[in-house]
Amino acid sequence: MTDIKSYISKNKDRFVDELLDLIRIPSVSADEAHKPDMLKMAEAVKDSLEKAGCDKVEICETPGNPIVYGEKTIDPKLPTVLVYGHYDVQPADPVDLWDSPAFDPIIKKTETHPEGAIFGRGSSDDKGQFYMHVKAMEFMTTQGELPCNVKFMIEGEEEVGSASLDWFVRRNQEKLSNDVILISDTGMISNTQPSITTGLRGLSYVEVEVTGPNRDLHSGLYGGAVANPINILTKMIASLHDEDNRITIDNFYDNVLEASAEERTEMAKAPFSLEAYKKSIDLGDIYGEKGFSTLERASIRPTLDVNGIWGGYIEEGAKTVIPSKAYAKISMRLVPNQSSDEITALFKKHFESIAPKSVKVKVTPHHGGEAYVTPIDNVGYRAANKAYTETFGVQAIPQRSGGSIPIVALFEQELKSKTILMGFGLDSDAIHSPNEHYGIFNYLKGIETIPLFFKYFAEMS
Ligand code: BES
Ligand code: MN
Ligand code: MN
Repeated sequence: MTDIKSYISKNKDRFVDELLDLIRIPSVSADEAHKPDMLKMAEAVKDSLEKAGCDKVEICETPGNPIVYGEKTIDPKLPTVLVYGHYDVQPADPVDLWDSPAFDPIIKKTETHPEGAIFGRGSSDDKGQFYMHVKAMEFMTTQGELPCNVKFMIEGEEEVGSASLDWFVRRNQEKLSNDVILISDTGMISNTQPSITTGLRGLSYVEVEVTGPNRDLHSGLYGGAVANPINILTKMIASLHDEDNRITIDNFYDNVLEASAEERTEMAKAPFSLEAYKKSIDLGDIYGEKGFSTLERASIRPTLDVNGIWGGYIEEGAKTVIPSKAYAKISMRLVPNQSSDEITALFKKHFESIAPKSVKVKVTPHHGGEAYVTPIDNVGYRAANKAYTETFGVQAIPQRSGGSIPIVALFEQELKSKTILMGFGLDSDAIHSPNEHYGIFNYLKGIETIPLFFKYFAEMS
């Protein structure tokens, strides 16, 4: 029997090579052209789970991309941990801004990662992170260290709203039954200060279309006399925040569960440097809702952001035109107890009400999801904290994140189980951006910490 540290040092090159192979499969869920890669990726995940010692592994068909399911039951009387992750990734765009090809991963040293980081799409979100669980499983099964039952559910549509997972969970409650859900798809404070994510924001995502004249017009002949949909759209968007940067949609904040003074005081204790924050993304100054700190703005407060805006002439040179249409994609990050459907409806009503008669507007909802907060007084949290404390030498700090994993709220609703978010990424990993990377330190530390979670969870349950 080998301990986890020596198992990792013996196998680390293979662990890294296997992850590089997974990153080479461009499993971009947003793009239909990558459908064959999704299937190839699902096969690769299935293989890896079989090799890691799962007894029953299957590729479950869904209306969309398949879900890879695997399990190993050692004793029905023991607790069961359900590991969730996603094998799909974001598109590589804008491709030109990558220093090396997104799907041809390389290892490079950086300031934050002196021992090297893997650069490639999905390295951190979420291939590198879910694969830590596969390698931890391999260690536990081959070394006789598996202390409880395990189920794996690795899906292929997280980055596009998890529509099929939703469908799958509702139909497979028995199969997915568990005592705790374990996910590595978030981040931590730093490589010397681990944290456990205790909250995720919800999401309401809409697309708007503003139509002015029925055709593009000469901007000299008509300019000044008709509503330009781009001018109108930008005015409408600007009016969605007031001078305190609060959202102006009627009733938007009605159901917001305000964080208690105690919780805010706790949050303020987390290590955070505003100077380092500004420097890391090259900002002259910070920005946001009056009355809240940067950490609060990015976690416990709801937001509204334009994700994209287009219309009119954007090719080379100049064209004097008043476009017929203008568009924007807008996302709202939500907090407990806002409802994604309600907020979408409020947005639609408000946006239609502020449109001048000179234009027509159309609001189309995209995907949404609910926020999630997890208590820290449960076995899962304590087991995770004990595991981190052992591998990092310091206690983990509970921290609410601003990102969204909508399926987590649905897990709680349908499976009645709590989720523990043991993420090993860093904010500097550039997930969804060019040059996404994942530290080799983080990858191996995750593989080292996960078996300890299993051990303590089984002991404490
Ligand atoms: N893994 C991320 C979410 C995340 C990252 C949460 C870091 C906390 C810290 C996930 O893959 C993601 O990108 N989610 C989307 C939502 C989805 C519905 C497209 C998001 O947050 O934009
Ligand atoms: Mn993710
Ligand atoms: Mn993502």
